[in-house]
Amino acid sequence: MCGIAGYIGHRQAYPIIINGLKRLEYRGYDSAGIVVNDGRQFGLKKTKGKVSDLEAKCKDLPSAHVGMGHTRWATHGVPSDRNSHPHLSNNEKIALIHNGIIENYDSIKKVLISKGFDFKSDTDTEVLVNLIQFFQDSENLNLTDAVRYALNETIGAYAIAVMDADDPQEIVVARLSSPLAIGIGDNEYFIASDASPFVEFTKEAVYLEDGEMATISLHGGVDIHKIKDNAKVSLVIQELKLNLEEIEKGGYDHFMLKEIHEQSQSILNTMRGRLLVDEGIIQMAGIWDFQEKFFNAKRIIIVSCGTSWHAALIGEYLIEDLARIPVEVEYSSEFRYRNPIIGEKDIVIAISQSGETADTLAALRLAKEKGAFIYGICNVVDSSIARLTDAGSYTHAGPEIGVASTKAFTAQLTILTLIALKLAKHKGTLSKERFNTLIAELETIPSKVEALIKNVEEPVKKIAENYAGVNNFLYLGRGLNYPIALEGALKLKEISYIHAEGYPAAEMKHGPIALIDENMPVVVIATKKGHYDKIVSNIQEIKSRKGKIIAIVTEGDVQVKEMADYVIEIPETSSYLVPILSVIPLQLLAYYIAILRGSNVDQPRNLAKSVTVE
Ligand code: G6P
Repeated sequence: MCGIAGYIGHRQAYPIIINGLKRLEYRGYDSAGIVVNDGRQFGLKKTKGKVSDLEAKCKDLPSAHVGMGHTRWATHGVPSDRNSHPHLSNNEKIALIHNGIIENYDSIKKVLISKGFDFKSDTDTEVLVNLIQFFQDSENLNLTDAVRYALNETIGAYAIAVMDADDPQEIVVARLSSPLAIGIGDNEYFIASDASPFVEFTKEAVYLEDGEMATISLHGGVDIHKIKDNAKVSLVIQELKLNLEEIEKGGYDHFMLKEIHEQSQSILNTMRGRLLVDEGIIQMAGIWDFQEKFFNAKRIIIVSCGTSWHAALIGEYLIEDLARIPVEVEYSSEFRYRNPIIGEKDIVIAISQSGETADTLAALRLAKEKGAFIYGICNVVDSSIARLTDAGSYTHAGPEIGVASTKAFTAQLTILTLIALKLAKHKGTLSKERFNTLIAELETIPSKVEALIKNVEEPVKKIAENYAGVNNFLYLGRGLNYPIALEGALKLKEISYIHAEGYPAAEMKHGPIALIDENMPVVVIATKKGHYDKIVSNIQEIKSRKGKIIAIVTEGDVQVKEMADYVIEIPETSSYLVPILSVIPLQLLAYYIAILRGSNVDQPRNLAKSVTVE
C-alpha cells in the first residue's frame, strides 16, 4: 500500500528515487510523484498512472541532491493527478509523502478549514501536511518539532517523509504501523518502504520502530526520537542480506514467471540447514526452543490473509493429521474484530509473505495482549510481524515482486510441512521410520518441481489458448487439494480478471453444479493420493452436465485421463506434499491466460502486494 523512497547526499537524487519507486511499485501503482529541492526551491512532478508515466514528465526536473518520491495505492480519493503525492502545505513550503491512513483526518480538516486552510485534494495526507504547517506557523517550530506535534494529533497508520523548502539539508521521517527503512551510506542516506531501492548503494540499514521518527541530515546523520515524548532512541544498524539479482527480472518477461520458475530453488532455500535427511532430523530453533509450548497448547490458531490464508488451511490439515494438535484457521481481519476467546495456552501463528499486512499484524497484537504465544512465518526478514512475534521461521523464498504470490506460497507450505513433521516426531505421533520416509521424500521435492515445470509449461499454454476467452472458471479439490483449488481460483481472478471460484469438490452438488454447462471449464485436482475415487465420481457428475474438465493428475493416471478434456500430470509424491506440486500448473495456467488477455500480470489492477491498511 504505497511505496516511498527518498535520498539525501552527494549524488543526483532523481535517478535514485525513480529507480527506487520502480522497485516499490509492487506496493501500489495508481499514481506516482516526486519532489526535489535544488537548494533554492522545490521541483515537483506528479501524475496519475505508473512510475513510467511519472518518468516521462520529469525531463525538466531541476538537478538536486535531496528529494523523495511516492507510488500510490489509493485509499482516500480516486487515483488522479491532484490526489497523487507528494502533497504540499498551503504555503508550499512543506512537502509530504505518506503510506497509510490518517483516520481522524476529517475532524482535523474541519479545524484547519476554520483557520483558513484550503485543500486541493481529497486525501487524508494533505490534512497532515497542513497540520504540520499550522504548528510550524503558530508555535514557531522547526520542521522536526512541527512534525512531532502534528503526529501527536493524528490517529491512524503512517510511514511519512517530509521536506522543508527552506532547508534542503534534511528529511524528516516517521512511522506507525507502516514500514520505513533508512539506508546509511558514506555521508548519504536513503529512505524507503523496504530496502530494495538502496540495496546497490549500501548494506547498512536502520528500521524505524512503531512510534519513532527520525531527522536525517548531512550534518547530523540519523537522529531518532519517540514521537510521543521526544525521548532519544539509539541507532541500531542492521546488515542487509538482499542482493540486486534477486530483485531483477533476470531475462523473464515478468517477475511472476521468474518467481514460478524459481520455486525449485526457493523451496530448497526454505529447507536449507533445516532438513538434515542423513541425520534423520529437522532443525528449527523456533520450534525446538518452544516445543513444550506447542505440545501443551490448547490449540493453535493460524491467522493470515489472501494466499497466505490458503497456506494456513493446508497447515491446519498437516499439523492436525501429523502432530495431532488442534488447529483453527482464521482470516486476520475477522479474528481481530470478533472478540475471540484467546488465552495463555493458545498459540497464534501468523503467516505473511510481507510481514506487514495490517490485519495480520493487528490480529497478532491482540493475541499477544491476551497472553498467547505468538509465532511468525514470514518471508521478509525483519518485517514488522517478524519483529513482533515471540519466535518464528523465515520462509527464505527471496524477494517476491509479482503481486500474485507464487514462490512465497510454496515456501510457506514447505515450512508448514517441516513444522508439522518436527512436532509429530518429538510428540511421538509419527514413527521414526515414517518420519524418515517423509523427510526423504520432502528432499526430492525441489527436483520434482523443476521437472514438473519443464513438462507442463507447454501443455498449460495450449489449455490457456483454449480458455482465455471464457468468463467463469470453477476449481475443485478435496482434502489437502481443496485449499489448492482456492489458490488456483485466486491466482486466475487476481491476474486475468476472470471470475473463478474454488470449492471442496463434494460441496459442488450444494450449489455450484447449477453453473455447469458446456461453457464452464472446471479445473479438478484429482491426484492419486487425494481421495481419488471420490473425486472421480465428482468428475462424472461434471461430465454428465457437459462441463469441460481440466484435470491435474498423478503421472501415469489412466482413469481420469479417459474422462477429462485436458490432463496435466504431476510427479508422484506423498499425499502431504502433493499441494506443493499441484499448485504449480495452476499458477502457470493463470499466468498464461492473463498474458493472452493482455493483463499486466505483475501489477494487476486494484491490487497491491503489501496491504498495510485495513
Ligand atoms: C495481498 C497480496 C496477496 C497476499 C495477501 C497477504 O492481497 O496481493 O498476494 O497473499 O496480501 O499478504 P501477506 O504479505 O500477509 O502474505
